[in-house]
Amino acid sequence: MLKAKTAVLVSGGGTNLQALIDAEGRGELPHAEIKLVVSNKESAYALKRAEDAGIRAEYLKNDAAFEAGLLTLLEEEGTELIVLAGFLRILSADLIKRYEGRIINVHPSLIPSFCGMGFYGLKVHEAALSRGVKLTGATVHIVTAEADAGPILMQKAVEVKEGDTPEILQKRVMKEAEWVILPAALEKLAEKLKG
Ligand code: GAR
Repeated sequence: MLKAKTAVLVSGGGTNLQALIDAEGRGELPHAEIKLVVSNKESAYALKRAEDAGIRAEYLKNDAAFEAGLLTLLEEEGTELIVLAGFLRILSADLIKRYEGRIINVHPSLIPSFCGMGFYGLKVHEAALSRGVKLTGATVHIVTAEADAGPILMQKAVEVKEGDTPEILQKRVMKEAEWVILPAALEKLAEKLKG
């Protein structure tokens, strides 16, 4: 079966990347194959996770030449789908257009709550706790030029508990929602492309 060649863009720890690698290892991504991992942070532990899994891992300096370098890598690998997994740089409208409908992002809230410019990582969970919501969660959406505003592919709700800190809530949202829906959404989109 033909698989969609997938690139994963990362900036940090890479637990979502790990969830994708593990899902692929369990045979849960029959229509997608992770071929390339690119980080804009040299110290990102995600790069080590990719190397350990035998996936091409590249660091590109987070400067004005980043996207030109990224495009070269994407083309070298024949990339068909792109996953943003904790990737904290905004992609240009040009690059998004080139891969229109084929870039997905995981966001740690139930969009349209706590999303858009400035809402990333722990800040999202700090905002959810300050607002006092009882339910939060994660969203996987198609990336469009406006941050976190593209069509929603999947969402999963997660309970906020008494005594939660941003760190505790972040961990629960990752475990119960992000690591579940990101591989599922990638497979869904890949199947649409290849199935
Ligand atoms: C994840 O919680 C992801 O949803 C979030 O950053 C974290 C990365 O963790 N992304 C955003 O906030 C994007 N707006 P990871 O590197 O362990 O996957």
